[in-house]
Amino acid sequence: MPSDMIRQSEYGIFINNQYHSSAKNFAVTNPATGETLTEVPDAGASDTLAAIDAAAAALPAWSATPAIERAAMLRKAAALMLERRERLATIMTLEQGKPLTESRGEIAYAASFFSWFAGEAERVYGQIVPAAAPNKRILVMRQPVGVCALITPWNFPSAMLTRKIAPALAAGCTVICKPAEQTPLSALELGRIFIDAGIPAGVVNILPALDPIPFSETIFADDRVRKVSFTGSTEVGRILIRSSAQTVKRISLELGGNAPFIVFDDADLDAAVKGAVASKFRNSGQTCICANRIFVQSAVYDAFAEKFTAAVANLKVGSGLESDTMIGPLIDHPALEKVTRHVQDAVSKGAQIMTGGAPLPAQFNPTGTFWTPTVLLNVSPHMLVTQEETFGPVAPLIRFETEDEVLALANDTPFGLSAYFYSQNVSRVMRVAEKLEFGIIGANDALPSTANAPFGGVKQSGLGREGGAFGIDEYLEVKYVSMGV
Ligand code: SIN
Repeated sequence: MPSDMIRQSEYGIFINNQYHSSAKNFAVTNPATGETLTEVPDAGASDTLAAIDAAAAALPAWSATPAIERAAMLRKAAALMLERRERLATIMTLEQGKPLTESRGEIAYAASFFSWFAGEAERVYGQIVPAAAPNKRILVMRQPVGVCALITPWNFPSAMLTRKIAPALAAGCTVICKPAEQTPLSALELGRIFIDAGIPAGVVNILPALDPIPFSETIFADDRVRKVSFTGSTEVGRILIRSSAQTVKRISLELGGNAPFIVFDDADLDAAVKGAVASKFRNSGQTCICANRIFVQSAVYDAFAEKFTAAVANLKVGSGLESDTMIGPLIDHPALEKVTRHVQDAVSKGAQIMTGGAPLPAQFNPTGTFWTPTVLLNVSPHMLVTQEETFGPVAPLIRFETEDEVLALANDTPFGLSAYFYSQNVSRVMRVAEKLEFGIIGANDALPSTANAPFGGVKQSGLGREGGAFGIDEYLEVKYVSMGV
């Protein structure tokens, strides 16, 4: 049984390279079956304080470790993740529900942040700036921010964590991490990898917790924590911005999206269909960057709808452990309720269901959270499904006439994380990419995520960037020395 590997493993609060127990535990559930996979200790305020103590004690030696040595440990962590890919991917599918092929892909993606930031660790350059006086010299240096608190979501239990841990460690920071309560096992598995990669005790600490409040109150009250990085909802992001004022911490936020996916009449239609399926249905539509509103130009609307519906109707729904599954369960019942509400609202306002539109029949739906991949036709911008992030396998198709009209519709949202469009006209590609108010643009590319590029949003989708050459800046302070000579 795949879940035996979980039962046979130790999962504790990871502080100082050791797993610890706690007075209370909480259950980790398989969203595909409802079964309890295991219980993990529930970290509270005193555990959080112990983790901050450990991270603060480890900071001087870690930040003084030559970058080349820190980089070697990060490369080793990447190699170990790939070596243990099958185990890590299976655990991810068991606790998160995504198909095993996607979990394997996520483990490789997660490992790539260690490799990428190993390189960046070696290139934290300073500057010598021409001074304004002949008897002065100005030296600019970049130094680690200090102890960082990292808070990550359930939809990418491994990659969202390594996207934060890797640049932090590369910069010379130490970290305390709080993974989502639904998916702590993927995070805790990383503890063993850090030990085996030779990363010293206290540099990375991982705290599973059912209730995030004791963790966040402790980190925000503590002056030693100099930075908080969070991936999750805009609602929680706003609370963290307010909390960070207490001790004036640096903050990075990767928040919600409402991605437009635009198909122009000069697009390669087959490529657009393939891209829309990949973007919308990856992780059952539970990604912050997935297509949420699919705009199709009038001349190709019917042809696109027909091809797209046929492709979506072919997506196999089931347990992520079955090799042909393409769509797993939704994470929980609140997620199911949101999807149901969006579809019902759209239908009540005139949308037409082309395929799907309901949960899987009860005999194939042990938890009730498996939703059939859905295409909605004749959707208009006043429907909920276009205004809120659905976070589920529902694709609304909206008809448009002109480029100006669709740009106005696409930008008409408080969110600005990712946007996609398909066109074979080079001038239009440049023009539209410049006018879309989003941090990530997929131009004839539905899967833009990579460790090499600066992931992040504008407007209410967040602050800061993760990945690329910019990602390490989030964990570095800039200092200058003005020297009299
Ligand atoms: C997200 O949903 O925020 C992450 C998606 C990705 O990194 O591709």
